[in-house]
Amino acid sequence: MGRMNRIATRITLVTIAIAWTIVSSPAPASCFPWSIDMYRGPEVQPFAVEPRVTPADTIPVHGGEAPMSLEQAIAKMHNPLQPTPQNLANGKQQFETYCAPCHGDNGDGKGPVAHLLSKSPKNLISGASKNLPDGYIYGAIRNGVLTMPSYQQEIPVEQRWQTVMYLRSLQAAQKK
Ligand code: HEC
Repeated sequence: MGRMNRIATRITLVTIAIAWTIVSSPAPASCFPWSIDMYRGPEVQPFAVEPRVTPADTIPVHGGEAPMSLEQAIAKMHNPLQPTPQNLANGKQQFETYCAPCHGDNGDGKGPVAHLLSKSPKNLISGASKNLPDGYIYGAIRNGVLTMPSYQQEIPVEQRWQTVMYLRSLQAAQKK
């Protein structure tokens, strides 16, 4: 008597308490045992659903495909945006925030921190860099180029194209 009995009584009380909790719970009876829905959940078999079709002029950067290389970007990507005043204004803001410190406000490569770099930023408005394809400049912002860092995190996709567009306008102004 004594100790063992008290333990047995406690176990019985706890069992009753648990049983009461189950019985009086507001969930419908079909939910018992609770975890069954985890097994019965809808499942998607591989290839049961058609793979998504890639929209034109885009390259998948996640999933099975390899990340976009600069070469792919050059070959495939074209600026999808129209040169509206809003797009150009946004591009100017991005350029002056993220590019001008090195490449200069007008893109000539003489930004205020250019002298601190081991390799000079390129002059983007004349010479060879003037004729770079849109996709290359987009890729340069996204991936970086050699010693230039990537601005993938700072500049989202749409703003990248606005930046490319604004750089084009700087180049056009230079030709006059
Ligand atoms: C930290 C300084 C720095 C910043 C900021 C910077 N660049 Fe650069 N960029 C460079 C340097 C340096 C190079 C040359 C890289 C090399 O050859 O090693 C370069 C090269 C480039 C090139 C390649 C030019 C060519 O002829 O191959 C492009 C295009 C370019 N930058 C665009 C941009 C744009 C657009 C931005 C703003 C989103 C930007 N850069 C921001 C330093 C910078």
